[in-house]
Amino acid sequence: MRILTGIQPSGIPHLGNYFGAMRQVCELQSRGESFLFIADYHSLTTNPKAEDLRARVVNLALDFIACGVDLEKTFFFRQSDVPEVCELAWILNTVTPVGLLERAHSYKDKIAKGFAPNNGLFSYPVLMAADILLYRANLVPVGKDQKQHLEITRDIAIKFNNEYGEILTIPEGYIPDQVAIVPGVDGQKMSKSYNNTIPIFGKEKEIKKQVMSIVTDCKGLEEPKDPENCNVVALFKLFANEAEVEEMKAKYRAGNYGYGHAKKELFDKMWSFFEPMRKKREELAANLDYVDEILRKNGIRAREEAEKLMSQVRRAVGLR
Ligand code: ADP
Ligand code: TRP
Repeated sequence: MRILTGIQPSGIPHLGNYFGAMRQVCELQSRGESFLFIADYHSLTTNPKAEDLRARVVNLALDFIACGVDLEKTFFFRQSDVPEVCELAWILNTVTPVGLLERAHSYKDKIAKGFAPNNGLFSYPVLMAADILLYRANLVPVGKDQKQHLEITRDIAIKFNNEYGEILTIPEGYIPDQVAIVPGVDGQKMSKSYNNTIPIFGKEKEIKKQVMSIVTDCKGLEEPKDPENCNVVALFKLFANEAEVEEMKAKYRAGNYGYGHAKKELFDKMWSFFEPMRKKREELAANLDYVDEILRKNGIRAREEAEKLMSQVRRAVGLR
């Protein structure tokens, strides 16, 4: 079974990204042949500055390898090292009904927010379909927000096969429902767009400041507190074992234990949880040529893999 997923290089990863996505990607890598790529062509739809995009790609590679992408098990590469994906996307565009793309929620949401859409944003799902179909992926782990894009991929693949013969592999999505939403410092879903994130990597002082800014009620130090409705406890649960959580809850109920104390415990736990990953990331950051070389070599192999499908596709549609 071939498992494939892509990640857009979109900025500094936070606890929500780690527990909601990065950890799952790392867990799945032993379940089959695992492909992971950095979706830099997709990022162009937001027109980033060239140097920003390049920096984000490097950072994403460091973040994922540090967090547990095993380069022995996972084939990790840059989307743009395989330009054939754009060729396949073009061919798939010619069997994709415009109405299918007009119904895409993520496109409609962006328009509703007042974006002037470029054509790249409109045909984003077709490039995503090409990413998946080019490597004959069977299973595609994604977040819930990408479910419709996967359905579009399947529709496009079925349409292509009906037209040109059974060439493309129809993929299945893997969308874990039990992934808990990680709350941000204000209690809403943690998200870059809400400015309420706690980054997983960064300076100790800045991360501590974010943890200390978690919103709580205003009960005084001596008063007993409710552990069931507290953001600090909710985040502590991500790192602590059951006994440690129970101990914190008991301290809440007993009183004479302030939110500042709980936040300090949370920070210490979180800091030591990410310590090995932080160390690994520092080592990698001091050795960027090594990381670049891995992505480059894998890109060459991915391109060879892509070429196998492309020669069939070109023949089937009448090119060459
Ligand atoms: P953001 O909302 O910060 O822009 P992204 O949309 O880039 O985050 O999310 C990347 C991945 O991280 C997605 O697969 C998403 O499901 C996961 N993720 C993001 N925020 C959370 C959260 N608060 N809780 C659980 N998973 C999350
Ligand atoms: N659209 C995905 C996201 O924003 C990223 C992505 C691009 C992707 N191509 C893909 C995910 C192919 C899975 C498979 O999260």
